[in-house]
This record gives sequence, structure tokens and C-alpha cells, in this order.
Amino acid sequence: MSETEAPLRLAGVERRYRTEAGELPVLRGADLVLAAGEIVALVAPSGTGKSTLLHLAGLLERPDGGEVFVAGRAAGTLSDAGRTAIRRGTIGFVYQFHHLLPEFTAEENVVLPQLAAGVARGAARDRARALLAGFGLRGREHHAPGRLSGGEQQRVAIARALANRPRILLADEPTGNLDVGTAGLVFEELLAAVRGQGLAALIATHNPELAARMDRTVTLRDGRVVEG
Ligand SMILES: Nc1ncnc2c1ncn2[C@@H]1O[C@H](COP(=O)(O)OP(=O)(O)OP(=O)(O)O)[C@@H](O)[C@H]1O
Ligand SMILES: [Mg+2]
Repeated sequence: MSETEAPLRLAGVERRYRTEAGELPVLRGADLVLAAGEIVALVAPSGTGKSTLLHLAGLLERPDGGEVFVAGRAAGTLSDAGRTAIRRGTIGFVYQFHHLLPEFTAEENVVLPQLAAGVARGAARDRARALLAGFGLRGREHHAPGRLSGGEQQRVAIARALANRPRILLADEPTGNLDVGTAGLVFEELLAAVRGQGLAALIATHNPELAARMDRTVTLRDGRVVEG
């Protein structure tokens, strides 16, 4: 990665959904720069496009206009394989609802993305165990997600997002599904991991107290990103 390029940059990003009632413009020229090591809170009312923005930033979807740059590379110019490689190696994504694979154990959920990225099984298992232990999950490695609490499931999801040592962490209300106390704890752990590894992060939250713990806040207004 070039030193001068921000890990993540959105330039004039547009996204419209086609609905029965016609076209719904959600993003209308969203600009955002995420600097290395910067943690940005995305706080905006429901339905304004937070998840849409995160999915585009995470290369899970393609914009209808504008461009997403990852470490200076225009994602729109990449093949599907190129985008997948970036998604796998450079970007970690945490969903509101964990999205863990229910038929696999916690450890396997953290191992699998590493195998997909070409890491040897033994090394992948060691890293998964270290990450899970770091999130207080020692002894839970062999539990399936359904046998873990909501907070534990989100910790596994965070460990999975960090498994391939990404440069960017995107999280869509990662603790929105947890009770207030658990949300605070899991959020602290997420922030500590992101800061400890010097990641650039964009984290959507509805909680102003959690947003205040980050470096700055942005919001969405009329489909654009503005300082919050
Ligand atoms: N696949 C889709 N098809 C049609 N409309 C969609 C689709 N996905 C999202 N939308 C619409 O786009 C708008 C933005 O949705 P989005 O999920 O990005 O909002 P959000 O800010 O994440 O909301 P929340 O805080 O409730 O999660 C909403 O009006 C939503 O109904
Ligand atoms: Mg959302």
C-alpha cells in the first residue's frame, strides 16, 4: 500500500434502488476519506443509507456511480476475483447480526476465511485460537454459534473479521443487537483491537456514547456524507 494513499476513499458514490414505487436514490454523491489508523463513527437515522454505504465500501456491492478506492486502487476497474481478493485480505466486515456459519464451530468460523486466503491450516488454527482467546473465548472454540450468547457470537464475528489482518475494518451496528451492558463491553474490545492494530475503521452505530469514543463522527444527509 502506498504511504500517500488513504486506506479507503469514496468519491461521488451513488446508489439507487429500484422499487415498485420507482427509483429510490439512497446515496447521491457520497465522499469519504478514511485515513490510516482513524476510527470514524457513522451515525445517521434509520433508512438513510448506512448499511448501503458500508456494503459499497466493503466491495460487497457495486455503486451506480462514483468510485470506491482501496489503498488508491479503483475497485470499479477490478475483476470480480480482484475484488474478492481485496475483500478477503484488506477489509474486515462485521455485520449487525453475526452471519456466522451455524454448522461450524467458533474456531472454524475464524479459520475458514484464512484458508480461503491461502493460509496453511495449522497457522490459521493458531491465529484463530489466539484471536478468540483475546476476546475472552478460551474454552468456547469448539462451540457452534448457536451455543454461544449474542455477545460471544459478536466477539467471534469480530475475530473472524480480523483473521486475515485487514487494513480496514467496517462494522454495521456491530453491537446494535446486544443489551446495553454487553454492547459496551464488546464495543470496548472492538475499539481496543482496532486501535491496537492501527486499522482504519468505519463503524455504524445508533449509540452517541459509543460514537463519542471514536476519532470523529460523520452522518448522512440527502445521500451525502457530512461531518456529524
Ligand atoms: N435491496 C434493496 N432494495 C430496495 N430498497 C432498499 C434495498 N436495500 C435498502 N433499501 C432502502 O434503502 C434505504 C437505505 O437503507 P439502508 O439499509 O442502507 O439504511 P440504514 O441507514 O442502514 O438503516 P438502519 O439504521 O435501519 O439499518 C432504505 O429506504 C431502504 O428501504
Ligand atoms: Mg443498516
